Amino acid sequence: MKGKSEMSAEKETHQADRIPDHDYDGIQEYDNRLPNWRLWTLLGTIVFFVGYWLVFHTYGIAKNHLGARGLTEADLVAMSSNQDVLAEGKAVYAQYCQVCHLAEGQGLVGPNLTDVYWINGGSAVDIHDTIVNGVVEKGMVAWGRQLGPDRVDAVTAHLLTMRGTNVVGGKPPQGELYESAPEALLEGAAETEGAATETAASTE
Ligand code: HEC
Repeated sequence: MKGKSEMSAEKETHQADRIPDHDYDGIQEYDNRLPNWRLWTLLGTIVFFVGYWLVFHTYGIAKNHLGARGLTEADLVAMSSNQDVLAEGKAVYAQYCQVCHLAEGQGLVGPNLTDVYWINGGSAVDIHDTIVNGVVEKGMVAWGRQLGPDRVDAVTAHLLTMRGTNVVGGKPPQGELYESAPEALLEGAAETEGAATETAASTE
């Protein structure tokens, strides 16, 4: 047992617990100051939030959907003539995509990838988005998380080399005609990221 004087000395150094008057069905609550570690954790998350918002949403330095890095139409088209990227894309395609789209992209469960008709848009950016996000309700998997950005980019590049090759014996066309954007437009798109979205939008 502590003596009375000892207890009041303790109270001077540690602030006594405060209990406000109100009670809810007999339940009362303390109204104490947050411990420092919790206060700093809270402030830390607020600071993190501001940084995250600026990076992902305001400046779009990294796109907020998985597997995408804000590549433009021109970036993706350029990748489709890089042999290293294509080799990887081909391997990814054989491992993950061939079952439904067949070896040359003729189409089986999934649509023909060698014609110029696209259900979800035929620009490089559209194709990339379809691969990242999938069309889950129609049986096309969202590959962004599983493959990660490098392999998604590579397989997109590979698909761009199939686009318009019209492999014999392919599935009949589905979707809408997509004619590739003229080179001049693509070069313009390389300069400003926003233009790539416009390019994609104007071809829909
Ligand atoms: C389980 C079967 C299946 C697998 C595996 C699959 N797909 Fe698909 N894919 C589909 C189906 C079904 C559709 C049609 C979606 C629709 O109707 O919008 C589709 C559509 C697409 C489209 C859009 C075609 C268009 O006309 O808009 C692209 C691009 C595509 N797939 C790429 C891929 C890639 C790349 C892979 C491998 C990483 C892959 N798919 C793996 C079933 C599959």
